[in-house]
Amino acid sequence: MKNKRLVMIPGPTPVTRSIQDQMGRETVAHGDPGFVKDFKEVVEGLKEIFKTKGEAFVVAGTGTLAMEMGIANVTKEGDNVLVISHGHFGDRYVELCERKGLKVDTIRSEWGTIVPVEDIEKKLNEKNYKAVLVTHVDTSTGVCAPIAEIGKVVKKFDDTVFVVDGVCATAAERECLDEMGIDVLITGSQKAFGVSPGLAIVLAGPKALERRESLGAIRDYYMDFEKWIPIMNEPAKYFGTPPVNLIWALQESLRIIKEEGIENRYERHIKVARAMQAALESLGFKVLAEKGHRAVTLSCVAYMDGIDDAEFRKILAEEGVVVAGGLRSFAGNSFRLGHMGNIDTHYLVSTMSAIERTLHKLGVKDVLGKGVGVLTEELMK
Ligand SMILES: Cc1ncc(COP(=O)(O)O)c(C=O)c1O
Repeated sequence: MKNKRLVMIPGPTPVTRSIQDQMGRETVAHGDPGFVKDFKEVVEGLKEIFKTKGEAFVVAGTGTLAMEMGIANVTKEGDNVLVISHGHFGDRYVELCERKGLKVDTIRSEWGTIVPVEDIEKKLNEKNYKAVLVTHVDTSTGVCAPIAEIGKVVKKFDDTVFVVDGVCATAAERECLDEMGIDVLITGSQKAFGVSPGLAIVLAGPKALERRESLGAIRDYYMDFEKWIPIMNEPAKYFGTPPVNLIWALQESLRIIKEEGIENRYERHIKVARAMQAALESLGFKVLAEKGHRAVTLSCVAYMDGIDDAEFRKILAEEGVVVAGGLRSFAGNSFRLGHMGNIDTHYLVSTMSAIERTLHKLGVKDVLGKGVGVLTEELMK
């Protein structure tokens, strides 16, 4: 019998039954009073969980649309922006901002490390930047940026809006907008929310909303906060047809988050990540992100000598676990394992056991039970 395939890539993540059920419901009119109430609850729930007095936007699209929406509402052509890039998705923000006619300065870290916060402050003192953009967890490196510390620095600059890409972080890594100085948080549905892909989610705090107002008319239409604010405040109104079933799915995800408690959810992710990372290291793999800056949502893992990437991932998939390949300079020598969202101990143990069986099949000695032992011990602490 074939193994069931667990999707352990860094998004989309496993979608739990009760969330799937929402997507299987009969679609109603977007003006249906029941749906309007549900949509309102989702918008309010996002603001409450991620703690902002500002606005939340939930629109059909992916994380990239959210990235674009985030920047389109707080800058205009010719503005200076600073991108802190810890990998592929930081670099995506560079390209996106350049396309928008922004003047982009970039500070890049070596992959697997972070840009020191002092370097960011130094750069901010050199020029007036209208926005600083940072990826909370870069999915290409497994590095987590110190958002709270960066937020403290950016707060010193009244004219600078702090935009955080939380696509691979939100609902797993701590993000409290107003308290952490995050002015715009952009994210998507398919990672730590455990919802299928298809929702672009943006939260904007008071400073970002003031900036939007000061810009007057902007070029972008679908992405304009001002078009969406009336809808998010009163979802009976229409601007673009909301993806009804995905919004129900997000409503169920938020219910699960509230039931678990967001603080407990953050703690669980830390525990799971550290347990997974310790277990992987016990098998001889190397976690590529430097200690102290490792994400809780995924691990980028380098192979030991003699393991072929394609062969490893093929056998692992046959053993029932799908992981993602490395990106760019990490391609071919590493894989990426997601461990975020609504996953329980069964997922973790099965994943680790499948990794061991794969290594065993590839001729690595004395691995069976080793990673599972470390993982279980760590999880039981
Ligand atoms: C950190 C980060 N930002 C942005 C994106 C882009 O999101 P999407 O693929 O949903 O457009 C991704 C996708 O994996 C991501 O990991």
